[in-house]
Formats: sequence, structure tokens, C-alpha cells
Amino acid sequence: MTAPVHVLDHPLIQHKLTLMRRRETSTTNFRRLLNEIGSLMAYEVTRDAPMNEVTIETPLEPMRSRLIDGKKLVFVPILRAGTGLLDGFLNVVPGARVGHIGLYRDPKTLVAVEYYFKLPGGMHERDAIVLDPMLATGHSAVAAVERLKETRPRSIRMVCLVACPEGIATFQEAHPDVPIYTGAIDRELDSHGYILPGLGDAGDRIFGTK
Ligand code: URA
Repeated sequence: MTAPVHVLDHPLIQHKLTLMRRRETSTTNFRRLLNEIGSLMAYEVTRDAPMNEVTIETPLEPMRSRLIDGKKLVFVPILRAGTGLLDGFLNVVPGARVGHIGLYRDPKTLVAVEYYFKLPGGMHERDAIVLDPMLATGHSAVAAVERLKETRPRSIRMVCLVACPEGIATFQEAHPDVPIYTGAIDRELDSHGYILPGLGDAGDRIFGTK
């Protein structure tokens, strides 16, 4: 069975995504909005995180209360656009570990080429959340999750802001066990690997490089 695609249709996420899509949105606002959406997505993506009961002391008496189970979560942004979501996730889970996977798209073949890979130890006890704003061809996400699986994390989730049917199909074919969380599923991929209508080049819009 293929893991589900969750469309995070909370009004706050949709509102901010609409503002981000606008051509006239500045780099400053684009980055701020992505940051805010990151926090809202983190809230949704960790909704069913496994929990443990522990005994604590309030100022008045002992009680049983719950903590997220296991070693710390690992957020894994795919460089470079994935880092745009990272701060928002860390705002909500400040103790999370962070791994980085560096991939670039070969402009001719659109195939993902790895140039950086650094994850914390003890991955088999950790839940990994991969971050990349655009699930376009799906090649980067497929390659990133392939490498991540070599470290045997306890679980993997894929988070993006905008996906398209082609990217979802490619990703699910390679990783049917990994659920996808996205803010939207847009119409299609164009011949240059951009999502339509999309929001343009996420990396350029985050970092102001165009
Ligand atoms: N990467 C982007 O930044 N935007 C797209 O539309 C597709 C891939």
C-alpha cells in the first residue's frame, strides 16, 4: 500500500502560500512567509508523533505527563531551498537535530547530483523529516530519501510546500512507504522542470539570487 499524500489545507497555510505565489512578493516577505508556513507545517506533520508518559513534579505534586518518544527528531533540508523551511520547523521543535543533503539538478538531464551529505548519529532511533519546498520532477526528493534510507531512520516523512502530479508519482514509485505532506498539488510540470502555476524558483525567491 502506498503511503498517503497529506494536503495541509489549513487556512493560515493556504493564505500565506497565496501571498508567496504572487510575482510581486519581495524576497523579504517570501522568506518570512516560508518561515511562518514552516512552523504551521511542523505542527501538522508532528501531529501523530509517538509519545511516552513520564513522571514529573509540578510545584504542587507529582504527575504523569507526556513527552515525544525516542531520540530527537531530525529535520533534513535538501540544499539549498529546503533551508528556507528549516527555521520555521526549528521554531516549533528547537531541540531537533538537523541533517543536510546537498543536491543540484543537472540543467540538461534534470537528474539530481549529490554534493553534500551530513546527518547526526543514531539515525535508527530518530524520525526524519525531509524538507524541500518544491516537489517538481521528484528527482531530488527521490535521491535524498534513497541516501537517507541508508542510515536506517525509524521513520521518514517528506514535506514540501508545492507538489505536482508528476513529482508525486515519481516519488511514490520510488518510495511508496514515505508519506508526503504538501501545501498544494498544482496542475503540472513544464518542460523545464518548473511547477505550473507554482511560485517560480523557490531558491531564487528565498535568497534573492535572481
Ligand atoms: N524548483 C523550483 O524552485 N520551482 C519549481 O517550480 C520547480 C523546481
